[in-house]
Amino acid sequence: MGQELIDQTVNGIKMKVLVEGSGPPLLLVHGFPLNHRMWQSQIEYFKNEFTVLAPDLRGFGATEITRGTVTMKQHAEDLHMLLNELNVEEPVIFCGLSMGGYIAWEFWKHFPDSLRALILCDTRDGSDTEAGINNRLKMIDLVMKHGPESISSSMIPNLISESSHQNYPDIAKNLIQMIESTDREGIAASQRGMAERNDFSEELRGIQIPTLCIVGSEDQLTPPDVMKTMSSQIPNSKYTQISGVGHMAPMEAPAEVNQEFHHFLVSCRMN
Ligand code: MLT
Repeated sequence: MGQELIDQTVNGIKMKVLVEGSGPPLLLVHGFPLNHRMWQSQIEYFKNEFTVLAPDLRGFGATEITRGTVTMKQHAEDLHMLLNELNVEEPVIFCGLSMGGYIAWEFWKHFPDSLRALILCDTRDGSDTEAGINNRLKMIDLVMKHGPESISSSMIPNLISESSHQNYPDIAKNLIQMIESTDREGIAASQRGMAERNDFSEELRGIQIPTLCIVGSEDQLTPPDVMKTMSSQIPNSKYTQISGVGHMAPMEAPAEVNQEFHHFLVSCRMN
């Protein structure tokens, strides 16, 4: 896509981040097992009004990998240090998809002064069930033995809706490319981190900042009812559903999602 990533040493690793535009900082935090490129449409749209920061998280994209377990708190600490290193002094609008949302909870908990607003896309507040943890362990096993190619195609039906798959084949192609370019150790480390992540359901009432919860109507992984209940518990939250799309709503329906983000961001800036 021809955009240059900045190299930044953060908590002992080399992290890559795309920084585009100027204005209030908008931090775009990708889902699993992807990288900053999932936000391409949002980067293009929002760089005219915001400083868009789109990092590759530890173990993903062009950022260095660490073995073992990478917790959601570790990702949040990486992002906080990254912002410090980039001299971003203003509190950020934190926009996270799925795993990016799990990281948002930790960022809110540990760095509240660095946060201005939240955009939570296709994510959840609860931790994993036992069955969920077992599925993660199975995926780790498969990926460590056979590489990301062994999971990429089978993930697609959970990531995008049937109609997105039929009508926009490039979306699945891009996702497969992102998944297959991810290192197996990076996948395993964050998968372990997600398996042991905290349950934030009891903390939602304490989130006072403006929040947008946005979900695809066909999302299988973090379905609309989960997002709607979650949003109803955050005092200053708006809930929006994008029809006909799945878990990767920002990639599947970029125009609608950008419009929703835009309305929300305008309202935040008027606060
Ligand atoms: C994601 O899109 O980041 C994943 O679905 C998160 C998860 O595996 O829970």
